[in-house]
Amino acid sequence: MVHPNDIVFDGWDISSMDLGHAMERAQVLDWSLQEMLRPHMSQLKPRPSIYIPDFIAANQDQRADNILTGTKAEQMEQIRKDIRCFKEKSGVEKVIVLWTANTERFSDVVTGVNDTAKNLLATIQNGGDVSPSTLFAVASILEGCAYINGSPQNTFVPGAVELAVQRGIFIGGDDFKSGQTKLKSVLVDFLISAGLKPTSIVSYNHLGNNDGMNLSAPAQFRSKEISKSNVVDDMVASNPVLYKPGEKPDHCVVIKYVPYVGDSKRAMDEYTSEIMMGGTNTIALHNTCEDSLLASPIILDLVILTELCQRITFRTQQDSSFQTFHSVLSLLSFLCKAPLVPPNAPVVNSFFRQRACIENVMRACLGLPPQNHMQLEYKLQKSFNICQDKKVHSLVATKVNNNILTKAYHCIECNGASEQKNVER
Ligand SMILES: NC(=O)c1ccc[n+]([C@@H]2O[C@H](COP(=O)([O-])OP(=O)(O)OC[C@H]3O[C@@H](n4cnc5c(N)ncnc54)[C@H](O)[C@@H]3O)[C@@H](O)[C@H]2O)c1
Repeated sequence: MVHPNDIVFDGWDISSMDLGHAMERAQVLDWSLQEMLRPHMSQLKPRPSIYIPDFIAANQDQRADNILTGTKAEQMEQIRKDIRCFKEKSGVEKVIVLWTANTERFSDVVTGVNDTAKNLLATIQNGGDVSPSTLFAVASILEGCAYINGSPQNTFVPGAVELAVQRGIFIGGDDFKSGQTKLKSVLVDFLISAGLKPTSIVSYNHLGNNDGMNLSAPAQFRSKEISKSNVVDDMVASNPVLYKPGEKPDHCVVIKYVPYVGDSKRAMDEYTSEIMMGGTNTIALHNTCEDSLLASPIILDLVILTELCQRITFRTQQDSSFQTFHSVLSLLSFLCKAPLVPPNAPVVNSFFRQRACIENVMRACLGLPPQNHMQLEYKLQKSFNICQDKKVHSLVATKVNNNILTKAYHCIECNGASEQKNVER
C-alpha cells in the first residue's frame, strides 16, 4: 500500500484561510501540537472553489471569500486545470479527489437533467441545476481521477455514475462512517445475530463545530438523516426468523447544534430489543466522538484503499482477460455510512461483513484462501492429512519466484513449518 507519508495534499475551500489559521479556529488539536504543526500547515492555502449558496446552509456565507466566478462549465474547467496543475507541480503518479466539504442539500434526480452522463454534461454546459460536489465529481472523472464522497448528499446522481462507468474510473461513498453509525453497524449486527430483536433505535447527537452549524439548516440535516437512516436495513433483512417481510425497527435520528461542545460530538443511543416471553432488553450508550480525529484517518484509509484497488485485477478460469473492480467501488463500504454499490448489488452495512470483505480480498492478493473461521482442523475427531508425513498442516502463505510456486505450511501438531515447491502451471 502507499505509505501515508508519500501522499501529497492539495485542495480547495470556499474559505481562504490557510491551514495554520484554520487549525487554530477549529480548536481540535492541543496547543503544543499546533505549535509544532503550524510551520507546515501555514504553507497550505486552499485553491478557490465552486460556491453555490443554495446547496449549503445560509450560515456558511461568512466564510465564502475564496470563490470561483464564471459559468458552471468554466468553473468546472478550472477545477480540471487545478488537478492537472497539482499533478504536474507535485510530481505524484496518481490523483484521488475526496469531497470533505460541507454537507449539501439533496439534488433532485430529473429526467433530461442528470439522469444520464450525456444529459448531466449538457446541463453543466447550459448552467442548469448541478451541485458543487457533482461538478467536482465530473471534473475528477474527466481527468481520470477516482472520486470519493465523504458527505451524505447524493453527489452521485445517475449521470455521474454512468460517466464513471463509461470512463472506467472508481467512485466511492457516501458519508464517512466515523462514530455513532460505526457503533450501530456493530451493535445491531450483534443483537440480530444473537437472536435479539431490536424494535426501537433512537439516536441523538449534538455537536458544536462548523459541520454542526451547517447541519442546523433543515435541508442539510435531511441529507444526514437519510444517510444515517438505512444503516440497519441489511442486518434486519438478514434474519427472516426475527422480522417478517417489510418489518423494521423504529429508527429515529436527531442532530442538534450546541456550540459549546465544539468538535467533541456527543452521541446518545437507546437500543430496545424484544427478547423471549415478552421481555425487553435496553442498551443505552453515551459516546463522545472526537469528530475530526475520528474522520481524518478514514479519509486516509479511503484514499489508500482506492489506490490499492486500482492495482488489483482479476480473471476467471473461463475468461482469460483481466478486469478490475466495478467503477462503483463498494469495497469502500467499510468506511462509509451509506455505501454506494453497483446497480442491483446488495448494500452491506454490517461492520464485520464489510471488514471480512477487505480482509479476504487482501488474502486473495497474497494467494491465500478466504478466512471462513471454520477451523475444521481443530474441530474434528480424526485429523485429515494433506501431506505425506501424515500431519495436519494448514497453508499459511504462497509465493511465486522464477515460476516456482512455494507453499508454506504450518504444522499444528509439532508446531513446525514446512515448504512444498511446485512448478507453476
Ligand atoms: N466525523 C466527521 O467529521 C464526519 C463524519 C461523517 C461525515 N462527515 C462529513 O464531512 C464533511 C466535512 O465535515 P467537517 O466537520 O470537516 O466540516 P467543516 O464545516 O469543518 O469543513 C468543511 C469545509 O468545507 C468548506 N466548503 C464548503 N463548501 C465548499 C465548496 N463548495 N468547495 C470547497 N470547500 C467548501 C468549508 O468552508 C469548510 O472549511 C461534512 O459533510 C460532514 O457531514 C464528517
